[in-house]
Amino acid sequence: MSAATGGSFLFPVRTISRSKTIPVLVTTARDSIQNPPFLITLNPLVESCTQSPIDPFLWTITDKLKWMGISFNSSYNARFRLVEDGVDCEVNAPAGLHLRSSWRARNAMGGCEVTETVAVQGFFLLMPFVLHNLRASHAQLLEAMATALQKPGTDRRKFSVQSPPVSQENISWRETLVFIFGLIPIPLSSTLYLPPAFKHYILFITVFFFVVLALKKLARRARDPYGDFHLVLNRRPDHDGLAAQDTEWLNMGYWKNTNIFPEACEALALRLIAAGNCVPGGHVLDVGHACGDSLLLHLRHPSVPRPASLTGITSLMQHHYRSAQRISMAQRKEDASPAIYLYPGDAVFRPDCRPRGHPLDPSSNRPKFTSILALDCAYHFDTRKTFLEESYARLEKGGSVALADLCLSMQSGSVMSAARRWLLATALSIRTANILTKDEYVKMVKDVGFAECQVEDITQDVFPGFRQFLRSRGGMWKIMEQYGIGAWVRSDGRFILVSAKKIVPEACSNTL
Ligand SMILES: C[S@@+](CC[C@H](N)C(=O)[O-])C[C@H]1O[C@@H](n2cnc3c(N)ncnc32)[C@H](O)[C@@H]1O
Repeated sequence: MSAATGGSFLFPVRTISRSKTIPVLVTTARDSIQNPPFLITLNPLVESCTQSPIDPFLWTITDKLKWMGISFNSSYNARFRLVEDGVDCEVNAPAGLHLRSSWRARNAMGGCEVTETVAVQGFFLLMPFVLHNLRASHAQLLEAMATALQKPGTDRRKFSVQSPPVSQENISWRETLVFIFGLIPIPLSSTLYLPPAFKHYILFITVFFFVVLALKKLARRARDPYGDFHLVLNRRPDHDGLAAQDTEWLNMGYWKNTNIFPEACEALALRLIAAGNCVPGGHVLDVGHACGDSLLLHLRHPSVPRPASLTGITSLMQHHYRSAQRISMAQRKEDASPAIYLYPGDAVFRPDCRPRGHPLDPSSNRPKFTSILALDCAYHFDTRKTFLEESYARLEKGGSVALADLCLSMQSGSVMSAARRWLLATALSIRTANILTKDEYVKMVKDVGFAECQVEDITQDVFPGFRQFLRSRGGMWKIMEQYGIGAWVRSDGRFILVSAKKIVPEACSNTL
């Protein structure tokens, strides 16, 4: 550990530095330190942390400190900035305390050398207390980091984040009441004198009740069944297992000219972008972007026009955060970059949704969108129709909406029973209200007010390639292929590219 000095007499600066060589790949260490919750939660002083709903690199952190035997909390803001080989962090704490720290991961003999350098500036009387805490806590932090990085299966994205309430499956008070009432028959049937047949009947009702409750919960969870399981699918056939992967796609792909998953996913995204009429200098909204690969296309793919602004909504916090991280890295490599706004939350705006600033909030004063894209996700929305209505309201005149989506063929749609729809919806995490035939789909788009609705059936370029790929992976992927996509294909389900425009008739164009 080293220390350096500077600053003024009243507000001196002290710089301390600490390093540790950890036997892990430099990419593992770098990716981890570039993940603020990883760094924050390893600090033994940290009591809680909250990510800014608007800026994923701004965190409010609360430390539990002790001074002369008295414990107290101190909250401060920390802003993280990713750099090539690590992360910089700037902290403004109470009492005029200012800290600039830099974390770096570099190749070293025996693994990766992680170095932290902190420059602290503060009132001279406070400095001994601050430096003492800093030295002790950050020494522990480095040790904890070494342990965490070497633990098999440690994933930088599994660290808990206290974030806006996004897609959380909390148990509501109604469910709690139902649960309590559901349990009442059991003690009643054993204490009261009841005929045995009646007791069995009560038991049956109770079990039935809990099975229904569990199924309901399962179906609700199944609507957004994603996480980071898809990362392995992105591994190219020639991947040596060591190099960092550069894609994190999560769609079914367009397999016309390839049998490689990330290439097929990119091809599907490019087809959607083309259908969405993205224009140079436009305002693009990309919904359900998962880990952000489709967003990155707008920043750097040679065939995609550069927008003036790029907005993303995705429901899972870990995807939102990962996208922000990857975009931030990409932005630094591009000369010009659009204004980026990433929102963690549901695609559908509701007046009570948090955080504020939903891109489809009709009262938003941000520029209207010229293209709204939903890549392989709108079948999850509650509902797709509401999403389209809100999109219509937030689209610029002449703007386009485009969806890579699922529908049923006319034949299967007209004969399918409600029970089969429900089963299919649960198997594929679709909402039953979103299971439509192609004609019903087009009618819905037109009813919302869109014009020039075009539907291209690309089933043959999506399902066979995707199924073949999943089968080749074996294990769980094979089961998913058989009972997920397979069930959809056996029901004559289709994969379509839909696009439509907001064309406002002359007479009303002034009012919209
Ligand atoms: C099949 S993945 C497609 C991901 C991405 N478009 C891609 O091509 O890699 C569906 C994505 O939609 C997101 N999603 C599901 N329901 C959503 C909702 N109601 N609002 C916003 N995003 C949602 C999921 O979390 C997931 O990231």
